[in-house]
Order: sequence, then C-alpha cells, then structure tokens
Amino acid sequence: DRLPLVDPFGRSIRYLRVSVTDRCDFRCVYCMAEEMTFLPKAQVLSLEELERLCAAFIQTGVRKLRLTGGEPLVRRGIMDLVRRLGRHLDTGALDELTLTTNGSQLTKYADELRAAGVRRVNVSLDTLDPDRFQAITRWGKLAPVLEGIRAAKEAGLHVKVNCVALRGVNDGEVHDLVAWCGREGHDLTFIEVMPLGDMDGGDTGGDGGQGGSVRADQYWPLSLLRAELAKRWTLTDLPVSTGGPARYAQVAETGGRIGFITPMTHNFCESCNRVRLTCTGMLYMCLGQEDAADLRAVMRAAPGNDATLLAAIKDAIARKPKGHDFIIDRRQKTPAVARHMSVTGG
Ligand code: GTP
Ligand code: 5AD
Ligand code: SF4
Repeated sequence: DRLPLVDPFGRSIRYLRVSVTDRCDFRCVYCMAEEMTFLPKAQVLSLEELERLCAAFIQTGVRKLRLTGGEPLVRRGIMDLVRRLGRHLDTGALDELTLTTNGSQLTKYADELRAAGVRRVNVSLDTLDPDRFQAITRWGKLAPVLEGIRAAKEAGLHVKVNCVALRGVNDGEVHDLVAWCGREGHDLTFIEVMPLGDMDGGDTGGDGGQGGSVRADQYWPLSLLRAELAKRWTLTDLPVSTGGPARYAQVAETGGRIGFITPMTHNFCESCNRVRLTCTGMLYMCLGQEDAADLRAVMRAAPGNDATLLAAIKDAIARKPKGHDFIIDRRQKTPAVARHMSVTGG
C-alpha cells in the first residue's frame, strides 16, 4: 500500500475523478447549455494518455477511480480504457473503479463493465416522469435509462441513483423516488444544485430567467427535503461512507439507504479526499475553484518521464484549496464558477 499524497490541510488524496469526455448525449439544464461547442480532438487526451495519467495517480496513492464526463460511455473506445484500468484492481493497487453515468448506454455496456471489475455505478435520475425527464435533460428519454438501470442490476452492478433536488421541478416526487429505489434495491442520493455554468434553468417551469436566476429559484436545501421525507419515512443516520461526500440514512420502511450531498448547506470540504482530471488533462484541485494544473502539457513535453509527471501532481496537490465558496442568490446572474459541470464531471 502506497502512502497517499497529503494536501496542506492534512487531507489524504485517495480518490481521482476522471472526466473522459466533455461530450454528452443529454443536455441537463443544470449541467450544460443546449448549444455547447466541444473541444477539438487534439486537445482531448487519448485513451493511452488517460491510462498513463491514471497509473501515475495510482502511484501517488490514489485507491479509487471514478470515470465521469460529460457522459463517459459515449467516449469511443471507453471499454478498452475501463478494461486496462481494471488491471489495477487485479494487482491490488486500486480498491474501486467506477463510473457516474446518465444511464443511456448502460444496456449496452453493463455486462462488459462488470467483467472489467466495475462493481458499482452511479446513475443520474432526477425524475420518474417521462415528460419531466425530458424537460430536465432536454435531449434525454426516460425509458432507455430505466432499461439501463435494470441491465446494470441484472449484470450484478450495485446502483446508486443521483437526484439533483430542484424546487418547483421534482420536489413533488421525492417520496416516489424513495419508494422506487427502495423496491429496486438502489441507493438514492439527493444533491443540492450548485451554481456552475450558466444560471438559466432551461425550460423546466421556472421564470424563464426573467426576474433573476432560475437556478437560484430552483435551489432546495436538503434540510428542507429531509424534513419533507420525514413526514413519510423513518430515517436513521448511518455511520457509513461510500468514499464520496454523501451522508447516508437508513429508511426503515424500505430497508434502503438515502444519501444527502450538501455542497451548499453543509461544507464537507474538510474531509475532501479527491481531485479531478478533465479530458484535456487539467487537474482541478477543487470542483468549486478555478485553479488547475496542466498535466497534459507536462506529459506531452516529457513523454515517458514518470518522475516529471509525479512531481507535477505532487506540486498541484500541495496547492489544493481549503474548499469552495459557492453561494446561491436570486440576484446572482453569474455563477460562482463559470465552467460548466460537464467540464469537471461533477
Ligand atoms: P460515491 O463513490 O458513490 O460516494 O460517489 P460520489 O458521490 O463521490 O460521486 P457522484 O459522481 O455520484 O457525485 C454525486 C454528486 O456529488 C455530484 O453532483 C458531484 O458533483 C457531487 N460531488 C462529489 N464530490 C464533490 C466535491 O468534492 N465537491 C462538491 N461540491 N460536490 C461534489
Ligand atoms: N449541481 C449539482 N449537481 C449537478 N450535477 C450536474 N450538474 C450539477 C449541478 N449544477 C450532477 C449530475 C450527476 C453528477 C455527476 O452531477 O446530476 O449526477
Ligand atoms: Fe450529460 Fe450528466 Fe451533464 Fe446531464 S448531468 S448533461 S447526463 S453529463
């Protein structure tokens, strides 16, 4: 077991989130603008470069890799990368290899993912209503996603459903989601919407951007969501962690687990264990800050020189900030962080 890199605040970095593509087949309102321009190919890391960077991070003590996007499963050749990264599970260098996905391609890939060593996937699903699903994802269809989730379960993958809490959009559905996930045996995490990218809420029933930021209007603190859930479900806090920021509770009536991810109201930054790599090789030390290290430049300037790359990673982690300073305010028309979530991968 390698000793992990430790940042200036004493936090060990064990978790790397890798955005393998900035592209997605959906256009979720809180994540992407409908008109997005995508990166030219030369800027995007090749699968070999991604593999090399992941291997370098594993050398620095990272034990958990999560592939994100965009939508990771729309990247061409993605399964080759997953299989190669899976070898680090076999050697014991890695504890977990997993993905966060919109589920649209899971029917196709669930078995292959399982065979490559993936045991768990997180799937974004904010609603069980087909029309609302389309309003939130703009380009998405609900049925293939539900089918993908089913395929994942049948392939033996544990599923965590991610639901972004949006007041006035899916707030009437939270009980149904708890019941459905309970029945299906999926974990469910609720997430506070974060002010990244543009602050327009899309066509989801907000004020269309007229009187202020739609995103801010849709913000629903999870303390209130939890109070709503408590009307129908008996929740008991659990002392477990899946390695991410969620705090879990058991639901007595379903036997299932619900997680709460509260970037806005509860700062979980003090126990942060992760950094993020984009598909262009920028290493972001925090989701909510602009500072990044250009590992692509380092890697391309010194191909095959691991020492330089490891030194660059170490330097970057030595400047990991204490945390983000997201605020959400109706009058705020510009986001805390201008880059869209699809760039850093959530
Ligand atoms: P587990 O391995 O299942 O614990 O996953 P995870 O919660 O780490 O990953 P997932 O991709 O499912 O993330 C769920 C939500 O948590 C996304 O909206 C992420 O943006 C958010 N999230 C994860 N890590 C951080 C973080 O360090 N800071 C902030 N602000 N949000 C985060
Ligand atoms: N705020 C909170 N969560 C977001 N996600 C995407 N954009 C945002 C945002 N602005 C979520 C997605 C997915 C995860 C990777 O990030 O729903 O589950
Ligand atoms: Fe695609 Fe996920 Fe972003 Fe939606 S949240 S646009 S599914 S990357």
